[in-house]
Amino acid sequence: MRDPGDAPDVFDPRLYAAGIPHDRFRVLRDHHPVARQDEREILGWPAGPGFWAVTRHADVVRVLKDSEAYSSYLGATQIRDPDPADLPFIRRMMLNQDPPHHGRLRRLVSRAFTPGRTGRFAGTARRRARELLREAREREGEGDAGAGTDLVRAVTDDYALLNLTDLLGVPPGDRALLHAWTERVIAYQDPDEPPVLDAGGRPVNPRSPAMLAEMFGYARELAAHKRAHPADDVMTVLAHSELRDAELEMFFFLLTVAGNDTVRSAAPGGLLALAGHPGERRRLWDGGAGFDTAVDELLRYHPPVLSFRRTATRDTELAGRAVAAGDKVVVFHASANYDERVFADPLRLDLTRAPNPHVSFGDGPHVCLGAHFARLQLRLLYEETVAATVGLELAGPPRRLVSNFINGVKSLPLRVEWRG
Ligand code: HEM
Repeated sequence: MRDPGDAPDVFDPRLYAAGIPHDRFRVLRDHHPVARQDEREILGWPAGPGFWAVTRHADVVRVLKDSEAYSSYLGATQIRDPDPADLPFIRRMMLNQDPPHHGRLRRLVSRAFTPGRTGRFAGTARRRARELLREAREREGEGDAGAGTDLVRAVTDDYALLNLTDLLGVPPGDRALLHAWTERVIAYQDPDEPPVLDAGGRPVNPRSPAMLAEMFGYARELAAHKRAHPADDVMTVLAHSELRDAELEMFFFLLTVAGNDTVRSAAPGGLLALAGHPGERRRLWDGGAGFDTAVDELLRYHPPVLSFRRTATRDTELAGRAVAAGDKVVVFHASANYDERVFADPLRLDLTRAPNPHVSFGDGPHVCLGAHFARLQLRLLYEETVAATVGLELAGPPRRLVSNFINGVKSLPLRVEWRG
């Protein structure tokens, strides 16, 4: 093992604006699989105590599965430490709990996420994909022809948000609210989204109670509405469950963030990968590669979530490194999905790759609850894109989010060759 001083930095959120730093992750996987990272002051956010970066697939899975040693509760799940005053509030979210408490909420809400329920939204999602693509085509002539069509603005942002609001049962008139709230919470490291400042000029944590009061009030009203007017949606199931009001509000918040920005990243990320690999794209368009394996390979290649944090509950050891109780341990899905120990030729996009044990949906007790719904949406979007177009080509560089958490694509200029 090399001197730990050589370990490349993978913390700086600005790195990810140029795409996943594969070279750095390769060095980490090969020489420092559990590497010390400094948390310097960046973009006005204060410095932190540092953390261990876990980059090999086997170690990422081990950490995610072992919630006794690696807690989601102690310091919650974001790299940046929450304000200690906010911690009790943040821990009310199931994402930030450990078994056995986590299991109670997980069981209650899982009932709302059966493949049967999410599957009932397939028809609407397919129509929506078709419609958004048709509108993108109609609007194409309006702008600068050489600039191509920004599929993020024209299709994927709305697609993800509207599918989620259908599933939740949010009325059409309130959808813009949801969009604004999720932007505020996720894009907070990005210079396009300047932080809200407190009276002393310091950035306010976007996950603090003060910032979320508006969204919670809305969740309460929506639940009351669903009790009076039940419908076939997730909020109706939750409003009629034994969830307490505070739990329900928190869960609404978790879903609006977890279910929106991830698909908003996955959809353009997948299209970007297809546009950049004409051979694989043709295989999908010609039927040489199936949509099931393609959806998972695109999720492996473009992991929407770059990392998640845990905190060591006791002194332990990981890949030969001593990890002390209280240390922050951050798993990098963006690296595990490219681990040569598990994936042959990982930098190659192979739409028929099988098996494909990527960790884009996580693993262990917190494995993504919305994975079925996410895969469904992506599959329908790709199917409709294949049906509507002959090909896609990059018309300019995509713009990516400045974030070490979400692998966001802010704009994706594509030259689209439409069918017919
Ligand atoms: C491609 C899209 C998606 C990706 C890549 C993704 C990824 C993830 C990951 C990595 C986790 C684990 C977090 C951890 O380890 O602490 C997670 C949890 C979760 N996801 Fe997703 N997600 C996606 C879509 C969705 C959707 C559409 C929904 C809901 C509509 C959703 C709801 C949730 C919930 C509720 C959790 C928390 C589960 C728990 O704490 O037990 N996700 N997701």
